[in-house]
Amino acid sequence: MTTASESEILTRVGPGTPLGNMMRHYWLPALKSSELLADGDPIRFKLLGEQLIAFRDTQGRIGVMDHRCPHRCASLFFGRNEEGGIRCVYHGWKFDVDGNCVDMANVPPHQDFKNKVHAKAYKTAERCGLVWVYMGECATAPPLPSIEATLKSEAELEIVFVQRDCNWLQALEGDIDTSHLGFLHLGAAHKQTYKEDSIELNVVANRAPEFVVEDTSIGTTYGAYRPNDGGGTYWRFAHFMFPFWTMPPIGTFETNVAVRAWVPLDDEHTMFIMLLAKEGRVHRPASSFADGKLPSGAGMSDRGYLDPTTDWVGRWQLKANRSNDYLIDREIQRTDSYTGIDGIHLQDQAITESMGSITDHTFEHLAPSDIPIARTRRHILSAVMALADKGTVPPGVDTPADYRLHRGGYFVADVSLGWREAYEQRIAQDVAPNVT
Ligand code: FES
Ligand SMILES: [Fe+2]
Repeated sequence: MTTASESEILTRVGPGTPLGNMMRHYWLPALKSSELLADGDPIRFKLLGEQLIAFRDTQGRIGVMDHRCPHRCASLFFGRNEEGGIRCVYHGWKFDVDGNCVDMANVPPHQDFKNKVHAKAYKTAERCGLVWVYMGECATAPPLPSIEATLKSEAELEIVFVQRDCNWLQALEGDIDTSHLGFLHLGAAHKQTYKEDSIELNVVANRAPEFVVEDTSIGTTYGAYRPNDGGGTYWRFAHFMFPFWTMPPIGTFETNVAVRAWVPLDDEHTMFIMLLAKEGRVHRPASSFADGKLPSGAGMSDRGYLDPTTDWVGRWQLKANRSNDYLIDREIQRTDSYTGIDGIHLQDQAITESMGSITDHTFEHLAPSDIPIARTRRHILSAVMALADKGTVPPGVDTPADYRLHRGGYFVADVSLGWREAYEQRIAQDVAPNVT
């Protein structure tokens, strides 16, 4: 179980909190590169509870900084993004992407002290179509993590952002909790729904898998397994990777080059960021199903986005949301799909947000199916405490290559293979050639 004080540590990300301190050791994906245009409008957003702005300057460089002007705290969101920097509209001070004050327009030249003034700017990087932010204190930021999907170019990826209106931990744990697939997403599907030789059949043929779980140098690896009708073992492998990455088994192992981030905007808002390699991907193939189409509700429909607002948490919000009960259709729930909520992502969104803005973890009763969640919480807590008590650098920060040989996905293996053997064979076959 998770105690109230552990829950407090696991869910609070603001400056000075133990988990917030740990998260600040990592590069954080924050925006799509395409959200920022050279000399375009600044974006107002949050990361780890801090109110920030982002802009792209004339040369294409990206600035991410505290939204407050260091003169008298007017918001730089209202600033003018002009010729190599952002100019505060209150008294005209101007800052480049590194936070240097490059013009102190309302001060006579002999009293100018612009060399002593800096906006609180964070280091940024761009890779794979994402803007990354480093909010840590090290003068030299660590390298970006070598996650397989992040080594692809923007053109090779499908990139999905969706804001989730709840704490990052319960959002992330939706990906670690693999046994809900046979209920929330496929509760209305039956063996007859699938073709007899379909690998997808395994999830509904047996909805109570067993698990293996193991801590790794950068997170937690787990596999759900159950016997396959053909005499093999059906494996669903997945990973948690520090500080908020997951690789759930959302595709066949050989095609599932994918990663998902659950980036805390603040304690009650999270940005879901998914990268999917396009090439070779077969997403929930309709051909697996007896009548050639997906079971009702098991598609990817999410009814689209609301128009973005300039609120701190106003980007990438779905039209189907808490305010309209995710457009649940009770008749469809009675007759056709398990939830009456249309689309896998939206079902996850509805359920994790329904737990409350921050889940009261003392109210839970964890079961054997929650072992991967419990292990992951333990691992995060121990890393947070090791940093707080001994200054231990958190997992993966200094070893970005440790992220390389990971993938989530499902496959059938010979029953004689132990989990590690089965998994490592597939990594050697499907992943290693891609990332070396
Ligand atoms: S508050 Fe920004 S220039 Fe004065
Ligand atoms: Fe799910």
